[in-house]
Amino acid sequence: MIVTTTELFKLAYGKFAVGAYNINNMEQALGLFQGHLDAQAPFIIQISKGARKYAGVKMLEAIIRACDGEFPEAVYAVHLDHGDEQTCNECIDSGFYSSVMIDASHETFEENAAITRRVVEYARAKGVSVESEIGMLGGVEEHVSVDEKHAMLTDPDEAKAFVEQSGCDSLAVAIGTSHGAYKFSGNQSLHFDRIAEIQKRLPGFPLVMHGSSSVPKDEVEKINRYGGQLDPSARGVDESEFAKAIPLGVTKVNIDTDGRLVWMRVHREHFYNDPKNFDFRKPGAEYIKAYADFIVNKSKALLSAGTLPEVQAALGAAVQ
Ligand code: G3H
Ligand code: 13P
Ligand code: ZN
Repeated sequence: MIVTTTELFKLAYGKFAVGAYNINNMEQALGLFQGHLDAQAPFIIQISKGARKYAGVKMLEAIIRACDGEFPEAVYAVHLDHGDEQTCNECIDSGFYSSVMIDASHETFEENAAITRRVVEYARAKGVSVESEIGMLGGVEEHVSVDEKHAMLTDPDEAKAFVEQSGCDSLAVAIGTSHGAYKFSGNQSLHFDRIAEIQKRLPGFPLVMHGSSSVPKDEVEKINRYGGQLDPSARGVDESEFAKAIPLGVTKVNIDTDGRLVWMRVHREHFYNDPKNFDFRKPGAEYIKAYADFIVNKSKALLSAGTLPEVQAALGAAVQ
């Protein structure tokens, strides 16, 4: 059942974080649904502009609708990740997306708030939730590249003013994470003091953490053992930090890179061990299973595992 992120966040705030995962193809979608039913957790499917271009808007929608039929117990939101205003409006018009992210964080504060306000007004009429972003995450987004060293943490007073001016339903904040596999060079962690300051100004308001992949060391090692050439110093967010961020208002946690690493590890390992195979369904099936297992573990770290029955009861989903 597709629900809005706002509905999910009301149930999750302070207790668990809803995992938001990007999909581009059928295998990712199957692993995502299977994993969340195994974990008994609600979730958010994220679709980037790149994914819409790669698979096609209609194909992604068809894949998700087919999964919905196969996994009728699932409770999830369909969300546009890092959208511009035009793509947000297209997704709102489609009637399929229950949530959009307008990312105008590269604009000035005033311009970002004004663009977000327009999207919010358009989305409200159709019951779609809106996430926006202020502050600059390090790493690479679709349209902007910011050196990690110069990445700015979100200013708590600005966050409050931004929410008031824009009317957005959730806010992506820069609290030490960045996109991609190379987030940290040393022993950095999330900036909990900053998250706490933002929560003080915005009590009860859902905060979103982008760039939350953990980039597990053993995954990187395996990828390199089977022919990959990732920088072995690649590091991500320590999973144990999610539980500390959740009481501070972090309610949505975005993960894409880790899923790509699972894909790379499974396929490299498969073809290394079975170089003569040309049936792509064999590694495909291994990947779906590995991705589902990965989702189960991630749901435990996000404290969302086991919450599905209460979410179904609260949102009126049919229990199979
Ligand atoms: O933050 C961006 C996500 O990882 C999506 O990546 O734009 O390559 O689909 P993508
Ligand atoms: P990662 O690159 O850490 O997986 O972050 C993904 C993300 O923020 C998508 O919006
Ligand atoms: Zn992001």
